[in-house]
Amino acid sequence: MSELSLVILLAAGDSKRMKSKQSKVLHKIAGRSVFANLLDSVEQLNAKNLTVVVGANKDEVIEHLSKIAPKAKTVFQEKRDGTGGATQLALADYKGDGTVLILAGDTPLLTHQTLSEFVQVHQKEKQSASVLTAMLPDPTGYGRVIRGDDGQILKIVEEKDATEIEKEIDEINTGVYLFDLALLRDVIKNLKSNNAQNELYLTDVIGLINSTGKKSYAVLSNDYTETLGINDRAQLAEVSAIMRDRINNQHMLNGVAIVDPANTWIDHGVEIESDVVIYPGCAISGKSVIKTGAVIGPRTTLEDCIVDEGAKVVESNCTESKIGKDAKVGPFTYLRKGSVLANESKAGAFVEIKNSTVGEGTKVAHLSYVGDAEIGKESNIGAATIFVNYDGESKHKTKVGDHVRIGSDTMLVAPVSVGDGAYTAAGSVINEDVPAGAIGIGRARQVNILGWVLKKRKDSKSAAAAKKAGAKE
Ligand code: UD1
Ligand code: MG
Repeated sequence: MSELSLVILLAAGDSKRMKSKQSKVLHKIAGRSVFANLLDSVEQLNAKNLTVVVGANKDEVIEHLSKIAPKAKTVFQEKRDGTGGATQLALADYKGDGTVLILAGDTPLLTHQTLSEFVQVHQKEKQSASVLTAMLPDPTGYGRVIRGDDGQILKIVEEKDATEIEKEIDEINTGVYLFDLALLRDVIKNLKSNNAQNELYLTDVIGLINSTGKKSYAVLSNDYTETLGINDRAQLAEVSAIMRDRINNQHMLNGVAIVDPANTWIDHGVEIESDVVIYPGCAISGKSVIKTGAVIGPRTTLEDCIVDEGAKVVESNCTESKIGKDAKVGPFTYLRKGSVLANESKAGAFVEIKNSTVGEGTKVAHLSYVGDAEIGKESNIGAATIFVNYDGESKHKTKVGDHVRIGSDTMLVAPVSVGDGAYTAAGSVINEDVPAGAIGIGRARQVNILGWVLKKRKDSKSAAAAKKAGAKE
């Protein structure tokens, strides 16, 4: 059981450096918002209360919070006067005492383990102020930790206020703090904005605590990558890549073969069984589930798809679809919402399928569009068949039975049905139902006009070739 009374998440900032209409806490990392990533780690601490300070894009942020952390309380910071001002508002709203954990909303890589170790050290050592710090290879942009001779923190200096010598310090403030609430309340009212950004810096409370004779302690985190903050798009990409590696490593430890982890993007929440092979260039997102023995990629996008055992999906884009056991998809196949491919079926090159079921063992092998259709088992849909589902106003359904042979270049004009065991002739426009066992022929009868080329294209190479072959006028 955690003994935290309160967690304050600071998320009111204007996200100026992101140059985006959206708050930075709503930008996505591995399919989840920056915020959702962080809250996942924070919620496992089981703090009694969670207050989120919102400001810029507040309606959007509150709406998002209501989905991912419905119990969180929000406090509105109208005037963005800094992390200190934001914390003052959150504290004014909470009357209790005990320990408070404060975090910036823009550090989504922090793990639950790191946070709970930080809390443990703080509580075990009975500290009244602790700062989680990190040694960064490039500390530019972060607040630097100034330690005294005895190792305790004297103050934190922001990059913009730092002297050249202070900028040489590699130990940075991660923006994660633990305070005794009474002590913090006592000093935070004395914050001043006489700094380079004219803001009330929360970081200044460390200096204020020091001047009361109390001490603040640094807890150095082992893995600096966890503490990286997102202030601009370059940092968003950097953090996303770290999250990608974390997720891929976990899948690889679970027995998934990821051929090129740097080029494979798998979102949180995707389930992949062991002995799945993923080739380079894949993006797998949403609630996708991939069963054992399936082979995905290269260059395949799966969003909310279920891929059953042994299925192969090559160079394809699939959304909200089910791909059956040992089915084959691709290359260059587009499966849209509601496509259900039964076991051992096939959707081949340049085939688009939408809201349709393709029965067991049925093949749609080449260059076809299948929309709003129900196709039975063991049927063959010839190359370049189009399910004409749209009459310009409404969509209609097509039904194709079992063991059907649809000839190449057939137009199936919906609503229409082709019975079990029926055929259609190549090049047909089928707008009437074809009964079981019949062949539907819907095309003009062919006429050969003998000698036409010899008469009408007298001096052409075609005429010469025809003559050589024995053709007569
Ligand atoms: C802050 C720290 C810096 C630390 C870094 C770690 C301060 C003054 N500096 O800098 O020492 O190294 O985080 O990532 O605290 N926010 C508000 N209201 C405001 C301003 C900011 O809620 O008025 C929120 C932001 O939405 C953000 C968080 O506070 O989530 C931190 O603000 P940000 O502007 O990112 O501070 P940094 O410059 O990164
Ligand atoms: Mg920041």
